[in-house]
Amino acid sequence: MALIEVKNLIKNFDGKNILRGVNMELHEGRSKVVMGPSGCGKTTLLRCLNLLIAPTAGQIIFKGNDITRPGVDIRRLRQDIGFVFQHFALYSHLTVEENVTLGLRKIKKMKKKDAVEKATYELERVGMFDHRNKYPAQLSGGQKQRAAIVRALAMDPAVMFLDEPTSALDPQMSREVVTVINKLYLDNITMLCVTHDPFLAKYISDSIVFMHEGVVVAEDIAERLFYDHDDPRIRQFFLSVIDHR
Ligand SMILES: Nc1ncnc2c1ncn2[C@@H]1O[C@H](COP(=O)(O)OP(=O)(O)O)[C@@H](O)[C@H]1O
Ligand SMILES: [Mg+2]
Repeated sequence: MALIEVKNLIKNFDGKNILRGVNMELHEGRSKVVMGPSGCGKTTLLRCLNLLIAPTAGQIIFKGNDITRPGVDIRRLRQDIGFVFQHFALYSHLTVEENVTLGLRKIKKMKKKDAVEKATYELERVGMFDHRNKYPAQLSGGQKQRAAIVRALAMDPAVMFLDEPTSALDPQMSREVVTVINKLYLDNITMLCVTHDPFLAKYISDSIVFMHEGVVVAEDIAERLFYDHDDPRIRQFFLSVIDHR
């Protein structure tokens, strides 16, 4: 059974259909990347999936339950989803370790010792343990994003959503973050990641979903999607993103 199943999802903003019937599945232990031109609805899709915005029509089946129905426990759903954004939303007045343990203590109600132990494990996993006592302002962009990833991961979510996790970073820092997300991929962490970066997409996905104007128009592995695709919309997109680097 799929962890997430999206059926004919429609989202309308101001009378305009932004998502026009998205169909997609994500299985446990799998990682999918969503690509497509700016404005095609990728972020809107992620925001619908954790009910940050209400879908207009269609179904989202999460762990077997249709979460578009009334009476859904949104808090519970959000605990199942670790969200990482383009701009690392760390608390600036807390150290890296405190950023990671905050949710463990407040939401998971863990004792301080257990929370620190869990944070230590997760920080080591992404090579951030040595930076645990630093404040966000003392970190590079890549280190901040790694800390944001750890903070989400430490909550043991059923799935990680990442929305353009490398697009605010220079190539060197971006590579650091790709390495970390690739490690999660190899650990079979379930992920749904939006990116324009073909390098990231290739190294962290089982398959890539290509969206265009609010619908999924193709799903395939990187090698078959990136080069000389039959669909001119896909060919044009990858010509632009691959040529510019
Ligand atoms: N809250 C909103 N209100 C009105 N329009 C929105 C809102 N959020 C997104 N949109 C519009 O939906 C379209 C898709 O946006 P988005 O999902 O952010 O695209 P992507 O992430 O693929 O670049 C854009 O035209 C955007 O202006
Ligand atoms: Mg977006």
